[in-house]
Amino acid sequence: MFTVNVNGKDYSSGQDKKLLRFLRDDLHLTAAKDGCSEGVCGTCTVLIDGKKVKACTMPLSKLAGKKVLTVEGIAPEEMRVYEHCFAAAGAVQCGFCIPGMILSAKSLLDVDLNPTAEDVKKAIRGNLCRCTGYKKIEEAILMAAGFFREGKEIPAEPHTLRVDQRAKRIDAAEKVNGAGLYADDLYFDGMLYAKGVYSRYPRARIDRIDVSRAEAHPDCVRVLTKKDVPYNIIGHLKQDWDVMMGEGDITKYVGNVLAVVAGENPDTLEEIASLVEVDYTPLTPVTTPEDALKFDAPLIHADGNVMSRSTLQRGNADEAIRNSKYVVTRKYKTGWQEHGFMEPECAVALPEGDDGILIYTTSQSVYDVQRECAQMLGLPGEKVHARAALVGGGFGGKEDMTVQPYAALMAYATKRPVKVKYSRQESLDYHVKRHPMTMEFTTACDENGKLTAMKGVIIADTGAYASLGGPVLARACTHAAGPYNYQNLDIFGMSVYTNNVVSGAFRGFGVTQSCFATEQNINLLAEMAGIDPWEFRRRNCIRPGDRLPNGQLADPNCKMAECLDAVKDAYYGNKYAGLAIGFKNAGTGMGLPDTGRCLLSVEGGKIHIRTSASCMGQGIGQMCLTQICDVTGLDPALFVHEPADTVRTPDAGTSTASRQTTVTGEASRRAGRQLKEALDGGKTLAELEGREFLGEFSPQTDPLGTISDNPISHVAYSYAAQVIVLGEDGKIKKAVSAFDIGTPVNIQSAEGQIEGGLVMGIGYGVTEKFECVDGQPKSRFGRIGFLRADEAPELETILIRPSEEEKSPFSNGAKGCGELCMIPTAPACASAYCRYDGQFRQSLPIANTPYRKD
Ligand code: FES
Ligand code: FES
Repeated sequence: MFTVNVNGKDYSSGQDKKLLRFLRDDLHLTAAKDGCSEGVCGTCTVLIDGKKVKACTMPLSKLAGKKVLTVEGIAPEEMRVYEHCFAAAGAVQCGFCIPGMILSAKSLLDVDLNPTAEDVKKAIRGNLCRCTGYKKIEEAILMAAGFFREGKEIPAEPHTLRVDQRAKRIDAAEKVNGAGLYADDLYFDGMLYAKGVYSRYPRARIDRIDVSRAEAHPDCVRVLTKKDVPYNIIGHLKQDWDVMMGEGDITKYVGNVLAVVAGENPDTLEEIASLVEVDYTPLTPVTTPEDALKFDAPLIHADGNVMSRSTLQRGNADEAIRNSKYVVTRKYKTGWQEHGFMEPECAVALPEGDDGILIYTTSQSVYDVQRECAQMLGLPGEKVHARAALVGGGFGGKEDMTVQPYAALMAYATKRPVKVKYSRQESLDYHVKRHPMTMEFTTACDENGKLTAMKGVIIADTGAYASLGGPVLARACTHAAGPYNYQNLDIFGMSVYTNNVVSGAFRGFGVTQSCFATEQNINLLAEMAGIDPWEFRRRNCIRPGDRLPNGQLADPNCKMAECLDAVKDAYYGNKYAGLAIGFKNAGTGMGLPDTGRCLLSVEGGKIHIRTSASCMGQGIGQMCLTQICDVTGLDPALFVHEPADTVRTPDAGTSTASRQTTVTGEASRRAGRQLKEALDGGKTLAELEGREFLGEFSPQTDPLGTISDNPISHVAYSYAAQVIVLGEDGKIKKAVSAFDIGTPVNIQSAEGQIEGGLVMGIGYGVTEKFECVDGQPKSRFGRIGFLRADEAPELETILIRPSEEEKSPFSNGAKGCGELCMIPTAPACASAYCRYDGQFRQSLPIANTPYRKD
């Protein structure tokens, strides 16, 4: 028997197990999160006798006589300070890392109430955060030190809320104090744990699957195989993804599921899975697009290895290049990138009503979960009820189905609650990544450095399934010319199936890759023309009324030139400074359906904000609340933001394409105006009890290639200029960014997105590498190269606002910033390193830096 004192109370376990598992599975104290179970992420941090410890590595047998403190055990008055400071600093995004951060902070502040910024960085060095870039977390901890030191009172909450203010997010407190629940925090009576059995090979014929030994395990409750799947093909856009593979099938990647096993004891699940016997005939995998395009290449999908094509043509690029004074052609290569959200994928499904299923899930759209799981189960949509738990980061990586279909299938088969959660390694190996691309770009200018033309070919490796590879490629092509004013373009792209890990959506959505190639060519052209890189960009950048590369006229609120002006001093004032610019659409656009919805209902004297727009950390609830308060003038304390739910909340589409601030933001304003009208008509809120107000917004856009004077490809664009500064040691010292994202809805949320995106962009450009060799993912979580708090550079963010007249007509002028924030970062890093060591880089991540040699 092992006895452990947790939060002042003694508990016993008959089994020696890791403290994290005991806290979560036995005591259901879920503030300590399981981000990796490998001792890497720090989300499981607890205090043992006042010292921070990773609970996932600590066995109960070492805890005799010691006192364990979790976030749930922090005194309420102390917790209120952390809740206030973390919210006031804007330190909370997805929140998955935050309870661990709080305990690391407490371990410092309990002994030192006058810490330096360096002390704080050191204290949280063991805690990874993928959302924030650490800056606001460090500010929050320093602020908390001041509150404790000076015994300050927590200020009262304001009774009004407008756009373009600093405001505490409504979801911050529950993420700080651990009360907010992620899918893995849910436990139900009789719940089973299930996991997949995955293919050993990226490409192999499955000759035999024998589940009998697994079924004979005493803890096994059920094993399912392909024959148990009512409809085996799903997919986010293109329906090409096998739910399971069976005997006679040829696998497409190592993430193919051959069986799903379920048991009551999570500790023996791995053992049961290992008893599923599979005989394979290994086949040579196709691991490059070049090989996949050979005439005799094996077909990965029956309709061929080219998954999608995309073109953008305007003017006559060949002729313009022939007539140009300076021409540069280079080939570039970018690799995979891992999203690295702190919360691994998890879903809990349980039977609901008559033959239905309820799925709690981490996802970027509950309606996507409903649609794909209903299709797989052969059920009408209304029989599949999807409800969002808190989402611990997404960045595009939670658009596709991962664990949800298997939880739903097992719950449907067993009629019991079922939890399926990826281990961190499964998450790395099986979920989608950023597309590797090879790009050959030719860019030309005249003798005055005026850009004349661009030609480009982009080949993307989409891996085994389409995922969002089609639109990712399209966006890489439509943005390949960059935010520059030139009218002769010829860009062609192809996205190709291979047997590699699947590539899909990732913050930046293809533009991250093509921006690197474009900006590097711009640097070369500037040098040839004898013009410095800042001036070259200033001469050529897009301005209001100019035509964007796709033919659309730039709006009056386009502030690309002003962004460049704002970073001018940072660029010229530092010896090793690199510069890049970029732009990104907001909204799905291109004539596709793109509807935001928000329903307000008055219930029990409160106004419920109901929208399915998924918050994966970016702050959807606060965004909607701010827009509604902005138009109604009502007290934010009157509102409740409900979780996304296919029964309660109207479909606002997927959180993708930097769209929700624009489309659901405007829908929220429309709902707010209706509510205000009702209140202005003389009714009190009590008299509106039971009333509902639905706001919808569907911006009209044109398909690519539409011939018109101003083809509206997207409803809005955001613009950015970034400067990366290196120190004498070659390490990244500072990042300065100027952003035109229109009106910031909540200033600290906008800054937080940008800061987190910058650090993620530095990861993409310099420090991170995800490897897949011969179709086998090879990366371990602790070795990918995610920056820690003491490695992240100083971050400076400048927001360029439109005037009242210039504002875009929707969402009080707010445009998206979730993706743009990391688009120019990698080329800015490449440019800084070129100034540092003279090497012109043509591949990402950049080699030969203090961070990595390869
Ligand atoms: S869960 Fe313990 S360090 Fe990641
Ligand atoms: S807020 Fe830190 S991981 Fe999301």
